[in-house]
Amino acid sequence: MSDRVYLTTPLYYVNAEPHLGHTYTTVLVDTLARFHRSMGRDVFFLTGTDEHGDKIAEAAAAGGAAPKEYADRVANLFRATWDECEITYDHFIRTTDEHHVAFVRDVLQRVYDAGDIYFGEYGGKYCTGCERFYADRELVNGKCPDHETEPEWISEENYFFRMSKYQDRLMAELDAHPELVRPAGYRNELLGLLREPLEDLCISRPKSRLEWGIELPFDSSYVTYVWFDALLNYLSGLALVKGDEAPEFWSKAQHFIAKDILKPHAVFWPTMLMAAGYPLYDHLNVHGYWNMGESKMSKSLGNVIRPLEMKERFGLDSFRYFLLREMVFGMDSGFTEDAFITRYNADLSNGLGNLVSRVLSMQHKYFDGVIQALPASLEPSERALRDRFFAAEENVKAQTEDLGLHLALEEIWGAIGTCDKYIVETAPFKLWKDESQRTRVGVILHVLCDALGHTARLIRPFMPDTSDRIFELLACEAEQLSNPAPEWGARFAAGHRVDKPEPLFPRIEVEA
Ligand code: MSP
Repeated sequence: MSDRVYLTTPLYYVNAEPHLGHTYTTVLVDTLARFHRSMGRDVFFLTGTDEHGDKIAEAAAAGGAAPKEYADRVANLFRATWDECEITYDHFIRTTDEHHVAFVRDVLQRVYDAGDIYFGEYGGKYCTGCERFYADRELVNGKCPDHETEPEWISEENYFFRMSKYQDRLMAELDAHPELVRPAGYRNELLGLLREPLEDLCISRPKSRLEWGIELPFDSSYVTYVWFDALLNYLSGLALVKGDEAPEFWSKAQHFIAKDILKPHAVFWPTMLMAAGYPLYDHLNVHGYWNMGESKMSKSLGNVIRPLEMKERFGLDSFRYFLLREMVFGMDSGFTEDAFITRYNADLSNGLGNLVSRVLSMQHKYFDGVIQALPASLEPSERALRDRFFAAEENVKAQTEDLGLHLALEEIWGAIGTCDKYIVETAPFKLWKDESQRTRVGVILHVLCDALGHTARLIRPFMPDTSDRIFELLACEAEQLSNPAPEWGARFAAGHRVDKPEPLFPRIEVEA
């Protein structure tokens, strides 16, 4: 039986349109999904939209629409955007889906019957932006640290989940499973949160205040708090699609989120799982935030990056490359168009694009595109190039498993750089002038074409379209998905003809 992997993105709120931040998490998970599939694993990749709660009701009202109508529009926009970005999700879940609603009500009823949900009165400071109550110590100058607005005092009768009861178990799980939340910086942040006693979690909203939510199964005058609803998507979506196989996938669940929603995923969610009788997820992977240069990305600052605009202007793979190469998993990054263009020109246009075009042009110039035979044993310089690619293959695998995607790309570009050096050192354009050396030129170019094939395999999860284009140029479509790679030198039989080069990444000229 093959290994299973279950990968999730957060469910994005439908009160904003897809931007750089959402795109990063989604592209990251897509890259990992493609990687795991290439390793022969059985992947389930879930994404979708979070559609209930105050924030969405307010946004709908502001736009003069009914909440469902509004949510339909934005959920479709998210789905269409991911489709245009060629995101290979297996299922797109909406928290307004009927099966999800039924699943949430079922869990609520079970937790209620088990005595872990009780009715009580609560007053607290509530931030509508975050959809949650804040303790004083969490506020900065009395304001929500994320939204920089003063929370509202709300006091009402509500239902509470006995989250406090599970604090010790959560700490024990973290001890037993140190990589549950990673990287370590976020695990430490969580341990910090758990140093204070956990409070119970208010999980209902009276309908008199908010109607847009899932009705509690045991009290029809309340709807469910949006986080208690949305987090359960990770189980409801899995159960819907995988049925009886769900538990096997669940034991391999890897959530991907940014640091903004650490607490709901690292505290609410595992304690909910305990109360509902499920094992915990395997890993919560937390990445940092994209800022716009030094400042926050925000609609009011007019600096929001839209994925489809980036695709239109620079191509999908260049955008994927930048996001994955630039961000160190767990750390914040800054996005600027200058940095994007600099990287594009250096790594894609001059680096990969130039190599592909140089090699294919020489193959055409000297041999009319026809690959020449290799000798029975390779010279040291060819063996060194081959070994560099073999090492890259192993390192890229290890780094990708470890979420060091920027290192994996660095490694691939290291191997690309070795090809450039090999061309300079062997100087096929000089050798060609000496007729006795022409067989050798054929060998050098064969080896370089093989290196391009290996490069196309290595970049495949990160830059799938570019990988396809390189395989097309090499005229070797059929074997492109094969794993492991063909033996070095076995990719092309002598006589195989490659295509003429086309520019993969035309240089972006910047006006001075
Ligand atoms: N609806 C909740 C999540 C519920 S999951 C059961 C939510 N939605 S959100 O639309 O606000 O999305 C937050 C997520 O979007 C972040 O955790 C991250 O994955 C992504 N990002 C949004 N802005 C981001 C940046 N500026 N930088 C990096 N990622 C960001 O929270």
